Amino acid sequence: MAPSFRCVLVLFVSILSALNVATAATCSDCFIHSRAAYYPNSDEKGTESGACGYGTFGATINGGDVSAASDLYRDGVGCGACYQVRCSDSTYCSEKGVNVVITDQGSGPSTDFILSRRAFGRMAQTTDAAASLLNLGVVDIEYRRVSCSYPSKNITVKIDENSNYPHYLAFSLWYQQGNSDITAVQLCETKNLSCKLLSRSYGAVWTTTSAPSGSLSLRMLFSNDVTGDETWVVPVNNIPENWKAGDTYDTGVQVNN
Ligand SMILES: *[C@@H]1O[C@H](CO)[C@@H](O)[C@H](O)[C@H]1NC(C)=O
Ligand SMILES: *[C@@H]1O[C@H](CO)[C@@H](O)[C@H](O)[C@H]1NC(C)=O
Repeated sequence: MAPSFRCVLVLFVSILSALNVATAATCSDCFIHSRAAYYPNSDEKGTESGACGYGTFGATINGGDVSAASDLYRDGVGCGACYQVRCSDSTYCSEKGVNVVITDQGSGPSTDFILSRRAFGRMAQTTDAAASLLNLGVVDIEYRRVSCSYPSKNITVKIDENSNYPHYLAFSLWYQQGNSDITAVQLCETKNLSCKLLSRSYGAVWTTTSAPSGSLSLRMLFSNDVTGDETWVVPVNNIPENWKAGDTYDTGVQVNN
């Protein structure tokens, strides 16, 4: 009896540790504890001068449920990433919390997120609870990365207002779905398909001081931290030869992971 009992025990313990490993491996879905504050101004939405360089888009995207990130900003790579953020106090806070898009960089007292006022209030169960939360100013939260979703939007090139046709070209990429990061961008001449790697100038803004002439096409590298996948995506549509500062161009493509 004794040896076989030990055998069963050993088996049981190894199953338990195998389960533990499996749990750790899928913990990309787990919530992480932190704290969140909100933008001190009285404006409901985010800021138009966010560090990601999105301009107005950075204040209003996702209905204004946006946030500044501290470490999660990741030198601009984290711009456009989506997080589910929920506060911890069960008297005020809803189970679901709020989904926000990172459009700025910033940190408060041990916070990972500085939410728009609107997003902060949306973590609450009711309007009254939202007022109480807002009074607290800084709250305990937990968060996890989630897929961004923009039904009826393709990834869109926004030519920065500071661009200077024809040579200085700066742009950001809007409406990227899924939970990958854009980690590299190439700019190609459609005529002879010569491409060059662009540098991230700051935030979500890619620039070149010597944009080629003619119509241009992009190559975007999507990197997924969780799966380790790296994929180059090529837009269907080109940036036209006579691109203009401030204009937006639909790439004709969208991603889902
Ligand atoms: C592509 O054409 C441009 C001029 O339009 C030229 O400057 C560049 O060197 C060419 N690249 C290649 C690889 O042929
Ligand atoms: C996205 O691009 C495709 C072409 O690739 C186009 O058919 C579709 O209408 C575009 N969607 C939107 C919402 O613009």
